[in-house]
Amino acid sequence: MELLKIALSKGRILSETIELFKKIQMDFSQVNEDSRKLFFDFEEYGTRVILAKPSDVPTYVEYGVADIGVAGKDVLLEDKKDVFELMDLNLAKCKMVVAIPKDKSDDMPIYRVATKYPQIAERHFVKKGVPVEIIKLHGSVELGPILGISDAIVDIVSTGSTLEKNHLKILEEICPISSRLIANQVSFRVKSRQIMTLMERLESIL
Ligand code: PRP
Repeated sequence: MELLKIALSKGRILSETIELFKKIQMDFSQVNEDSRKLFFDFEEYGTRVILAKPSDVPTYVEYGVADIGVAGKDVLLEDKKDVFELMDLNLAKCKMVVAIPKDKSDDMPIYRVATKYPQIAERHFVKKGVPVEIIKLHGSVELGPILGISDAIVDIVSTGSTLEKNHLKILEEICPISSRLIANQVSFRVKSRQIMTLMERLESIL
């Protein structure tokens, strides 16, 4: 049978994902991003693991080079792709928020917002009817208000320590975020037996 190709996100979520698969007797512990190897075959489980940047996982799945993938809801909301979202894996739980400097009042006007998530930020402020300028940054967005490039940020918060260390506070929660199992629309039909079996096993331990 053809291998089921699974795209996993590199970075801090990888170890949590490997732990999850271990619980369903799929041991991917040799998947190690330090090795620089980007795919790993596990004939014994009928799978190939592809390691990708988190924001690229939905793209690989949309184009079918990966049948399924594990992607953050933040990435899925920011960069909408034609993929099926199959289940919430409850991994890497955090929330998308608007944050402002601690010493500012909650009703201060917001003109500029720095974020890695311009689409999510844009949709949020349009929905509220607040016109803002969105400034796209690629990381360390907490610097925005410190350096004065923005009044607020839209970012994910997990432990809250990055906000704390940079004297920021949560103004509003936009939505909860966690990792999702996603599938290519054709693979979901063609490899339905393999994918459904995997989903049943994951459901049994979630
Ligand atoms: C994310 C996010 C925050 C931080 C929040 O950044 O953008 O900066 O984690 O986590 P905390 O609430 O537990 O402190 P990441 O570490 O992915 O790096 P980046 O800012 O360089 O993108």
